[in-house]
Amino acid sequence: MKKIYFIKSGCILVLVLSVLACNSSKKRNSTIGLKDASTFPIGTAIKIHTLMNDAKLQKIQKQNFNSITATNDMKMQSIIPTENNYNWKTVDTILNYAETHNQRLFGHNLIWHSSTPEWVIAKAEKDSLWLDSFMKEYITRYVGRYKGKVAAWDVVNEAFESSGGNYRETFWYNKLGKSYIEKAFKYAHEADPDAVLFYNDFNIERDTTKLHAVIKMVNEFKEKGVPISGIGFQMHIRMDIPDEIIAYSLKKAAETGLQIHLSEVDIIFNTHNDERLGGIENYSSLTDEMKQAQAEKYKNLIEMYKEIVPKEQQFGITLWDFTDRDTWIRGFFNMRDWPSIYDDNLQPKPAYLGFLEGLKD
Ligand code: G3I
Repeated sequence: MKKIYFIKSGCILVLVLSVLACNSSKKRNSTIGLKDASTFPIGTAIKIHTLMNDAKLQKIQKQNFNSITATNDMKMQSIIPTENNYNWKTVDTILNYAETHNQRLFGHNLIWHSSTPEWVIAKAEKDSLWLDSFMKEYITRYVGRYKGKVAAWDVVNEAFESSGGNYRETFWYNKLGKSYIEKAFKYAHEADPDAVLFYNDFNIERDTTKLHAVIKMVNEFKEKGVPISGIGFQMHIRMDIPDEIIAYSLKKAAETGLQIHLSEVDIIFNTHNDERLGGIENYSSLTDEMKQAQAEKYKNLIEMYKEIVPKEQQFGITLWDFTDRDTWIRGFFNMRDWPSIYDDNLQPKPAYLGFLEGLKD
């Protein structure tokens, strides 16, 4: 009787242990993701409303990422849509999410011509002296409010023309001259001396004239003591952008000694010309060969970042939307494409494995 009891309880013990083991390995597997294979932070930009209302998306987000950027909710248009009407609610929600799930919060962005509210433009037209004081107040208030909470900021975004080495003649440039850029860095640094401050732009991985102009500006800033700490490569790339050019650009930027952030990564197949609705849809469906080629491209990109950028300058890699379902590309250029590491059904693509492979030593 006793023996039977022993055998029975022994069996139960083994059963319980294996269920526990199974559960814990399930738990382990469900929380292991890209971030766990990486020595630097892996981030994603995401629309906060979408994230909050989609449990499946949230689960994947928590599993893979330890850094978060708001796609649009931290831009000026969202923060101060009308005069004197600061709107912190969504930022507080993002911050709470980031803190709860141990993620670094990245601030995108402080000054960008594309997200400047109409009321600011109208007011500055009447009184250009006001614009500098507004910029100072905006940055001081915003960065100061999230001091120690937002780890880093894209202080100025896209201040150079889409191609070539000229400053973009934006509203900010036309009103304040190019000094608006260094002023923005100064104001941000005064508000949070510990925040990592980036200049962020696109096409600098492929357009060497533009890259050299950005590096020239950065070096001038360093000489003058303008508090810049990093260069953000948006890295919205296409399958046919040669790896050799990307490698050259990363090397040149790393030579400045600043932090290097791949801040908005995605990899498209079709051609576009950087203009809204401007593109040619050469590919209207995604084949297995294309998926494999994209996986290889993701892998190469991650490997280049790891090999070329010195460890102490590796600020991290951030994807811009991580699913084909949510990608900005389709709406912005009005064409099909599959630039992300997860597909339309929130399943990992070969690109996910390519990314992961690239992270592994
Ligand atoms: O929310 C409104 C919706 O109510 C309305 O019906 C709809 C009609 O157009 O517009 C919706 O807002 C859009 C918003 O994205 C949310 O999807 C805006 O029109 C659209 O302009 C906005 O586009 C964003 C764009 O920046 C401009 O702010 C994209 O989502 C966002 O991915 C894109 O992100 C930029 C980075 O900030 C800088 N680097 C390039 C990158 C891609 O363009």
